[in-house]
This record gives sequence, C-alpha cells and structure tokens, in this order.
Amino acid sequence: MGIEEQGGQKTAGTSTIAPAKGKLGVMVVGLGAVATTFIAGVEAVRKGLAKPIGSLTQMGTIRLGKRTDNTSPLIKDFAPLANLNDIVFTGWDIFDDNVYEAAAHAEVLDKEMLGQLKPYLETIKPLPAVFDQYYVKRLNGTHIKKGKNKRDLANQLIADIQAFKKTVDRVVIIWCASTEIFIKPTAVHETIESFEKGMENDDIAIAPSQLYAYAAMSEGVPFANGAPNLTVDFPAMVELSKKNAAPICGKDFKTGQTMMKTVLAPAFKARMLGVSGWFSTNILGNRDGEVLDDPESFKTKEESKLGSLDYIFQPELYPDLYKDLYHKIRINYYPPRGDKKEAWDNIDIFGWLGYPMQIKVNFLCRDSILAAPIALDLVLFMDLAKRTPSLRSIGIQEWLSFYLKSPQSAPGLYPEHDLFIQSMKLKNTLRHIMGQDLITHLGLEYYD
Ligand SMILES: NC(=O)c1ccc[n+]([C@@H]2O[C@H](COP(=O)([O-])OP(=O)(O)OC[C@H]3O[C@@H](n4cnc5c(N)ncnc54)[C@H](O)[C@@H]3O)[C@@H](O)[C@H]2O)c1
Repeated sequence: MGIEEQGGQKTAGTSTIAPAKGKLGVMVVGLGAVATTFIAGVEAVRKGLAKPIGSLTQMGTIRLGKRTDNTSPLIKDFAPLANLNDIVFTGWDIFDDNVYEAAAHAEVLDKEMLGQLKPYLETIKPLPAVFDQYYVKRLNGTHIKKGKNKRDLANQLIADIQAFKKTVDRVVIIWCASTEIFIKPTAVHETIESFEKGMENDDIAIAPSQLYAYAAMSEGVPFANGAPNLTVDFPAMVELSKKNAAPICGKDFKTGQTMMKTVLAPAFKARMLGVSGWFSTNILGNRDGEVLDDPESFKTKEESKLGSLDYIFQPELYPDLYKDLYHKIRINYYPPRGDKKEAWDNIDIFGWLGYPMQIKVNFLCRDSILAAPIALDLVLFMDLAKRTPSLRSIGIQEWLSFYLKSPQSAPGLYPEHDLFIQSMKLKNTLRHIMGQDLITHLGLEYYD
C-alpha cells in the first residue's frame, strides 16, 4: 500500500515498515535509579509478576475510524512494536555494580521484588563509561574509559555498539545518566565537520553525553535523551541524525511536576484564565537530587523545566493574561525522602474582571516509577521510527514530544508542550504510518 486518499485525509502505507523481527538490543547509558527500575520492571512484566502501568505502548489503545465503529485495538497490537520478550539489555556506568546491585542501592523497588529478579539482573554488567567530572561535579566514578582525546573516546563507544550489534538484530540507545552542567551550543556544534574537529581538540563544550550521541548517530542507532543536557539538540547532531537515519527526539523525561504543569496550563489558557505567578518547589533525596544540588547541573534542569509555560501560554498573543507571569522553580536535595519526591505548586490565577484565586498542587510521587514506563515507550517507539521509512530519515521525531520536558522540533518551529496536543500528535502519527484515517475530533458526520 502506498500513499492513498482515505476519508479526505492522506495516509501513508504500511507495507514498508520493517517487521519487529528478532532481538531488540537496548543500550542504557547510566545504570542508576531510573535505568534499573526500567530494566527490572521489564523483566517483572515478562515474568508475569506485575503490570506495565504507565506505559502507553503496553496498556494504551488507539481508536480507529468513527466513534460508532467501536474499534480501539491495543497500540501494541496495532503498530509493529518489538515484544518485551525480545528486548536484550546492556549499558554503561561509571561504577561497576551489576544491575541487581545498582537497583538495590537505588532503593526504588522492594527487596521481595528484586529478590525474584536477582538471577537475571545480576547478569547485566556495565561497560566502562565515558565520563569527566568537570561535567557532573558531584560524581566521581572508577569504571571509566581512557583515551587520547574525545574522538578516541567516541570511537571506543562506537566499538561497544558494533560489538553489541553482533549479538542482536537492532539497537536503540537511551540516556538515563546524570544531568550534566549547563552548556550553550557554540560554533563547534554547528556542523558535523566542526564537531569532529572539536572532538579531536578536546573542545570543552563537548560533554560526554554528546560523545555517546555521536557514537549512536554514526552507527545509525536511535538515541533518546532522558536528561536535560545539551546532547542531540544542536545542528551537527540533527544533520548526522538525518544523514544516517538515526532518530532523535528531544530531552528530559516529562514525569511529575512538569507533566502536571502541561496538563493544567492548557486548561487555564483554554478557558482564558490569567496566571500571575507559578511557584514550583521539590524535595528529592536520590542520587539525581544530589547531582542537581550542584548549581551548574541544576541550571540545566531549571532551563528545561522553565520552558513549557512560555510556549503554552503564548504571552505575545495574550498579554492581558500572561505577560507578567512570574515563574520560579526550586529543587532541594533532601536525603530522607530518597526517590520519593514531593512537589508543591502554588499557582496564582485570576478570572473575570481580574479577581485573583489560588490553586495548590501537592504531588507525592516516585520519580523512577514515573520515569521507567517512559523509558520503555521511548525505546519501543524509537525502534519503530527506525523501521519506518517515512520517519527514520527526518531526524527529529517530534511526535514523541509527549514524553519530554524539552521537546525538539524543526528549526524555526515552536515546540508543542500541551500534553493533550502531544498525545493527539503521537496517536495520529501512528494512524498515519499505519495507513489509517487521522482523527480530528470534528464529528459533524454524526449529525448528517
Ligand atoms: N526520575 C525522573 O522522574 C526523571 C525525570 C526527568 C529526568 N530524569 C533524569 O534521568 C537521569 C537519571 O536519573 P536517576 O534518578 O536514575 O539518577 P541516578 O543518579 O540514580 O543514575 C544516574 C546514573 O548515571 C551514571 N552516570 C553518570 N554519568 C555517566 C556517564 N557519563 N556515563 C555513564 N553513566 C553515567 C551514574 O553513575 C548513575 O549510576 C537524570 O539525569 C535525571 O535528571 C529523571
């Protein structure tokens, strides 16, 4: 089936999406709280010990055709996604703990659950990482590659990927490692040539995460970024992603506070309610919290968390409602809470004739429990993108913005942050690549 007309909408054919045959190799950068909860969770689901709650690819359905058709298959039965039983994990870390030891250290999953998964988790041992403490001040690892320059280190990562490729059929890489210091793109990030030269000259603006991304792109492997670092969001990497058909998709898992923000803010805007202030604060006690306690890593996270409201509220279109919005974000490292983050939002809104009101949100969440299903979905959808001819060569997979605090979009195009626009975009992309009619929610046909 090629491009064809269906119900007035152009849809692409399905026949060219390569099937999800064989093993999907998942290489995880950073085997900390999120990564081990993700890996242990996939194994728990495979063993029938728990359900993949929070994962759209495993539990979500997609409506096809008219509301009266009653056709809503599971997404995993509709799109040719890899089966969980076909996933093979490996990864890199700056500590040499195996995944069982790292998961026990992270204290996210209880001992009973981990005990049942121990024999499997112990078999996954990290490869030595590319790391430099200049970029993550609060960590000091021992399981680290040595090289004569950054290009040499990238080549060692390429060799790791090539070796893993020999054991599986396809590979996806996901960054679940620590947040690096804030870096602004420079001339070195402009073209593939300038970036390669920069690696040879050990340019300071090239952080380890960029070397992993470069290695992935060079090998035509999709790369998802769970942290807010500057990693794939610059021209050289976009160019390389397109050139080698290696999908990229923005950064920083949208899990707790920002997920709530991108649900509430669109509601206020839809109802033309003004917002004068939004104060967000968090306490967090895991290693991520410790890393973010460093001002330079916090700055990277802050920038990522701040972006959403400006784009959603469009103050240039609605100056009376949002021009004076004061938006403040704090993250406080508070060890007693571990991975169980608590977030508070105070939102000062105003309504008819400018009368003020307040909303308080208090989210007692579990960071890695929220992030793990996002990591799973990103991996499966990035693999699908790689097998889909109309997606793999476009580089940025904007349809996966749904999962990310900092979505990536084409140059000059503003990103969509509204969770429900993102959800519609994701599902319509699936309908599109599978040759189904898009759903616009117009619905006039029911009244003919
Ligand atoms: N949990 C969430 O809700 C959430 C949401 C958005 C983003 N994130 C981001 O996800 C990332 C992981 O979070 P976490 O809670 O698992 O943190 P963590 O500290 O438990 O794990 C990070 C791991 O990465 C390793 N690491 C650091 N630099 C590395 C490198 N260069 N190469 C290989 N390994 C490296 C560390 O040793 C550690 O094991 C963080 O950047 C965090 O900001 C988490």
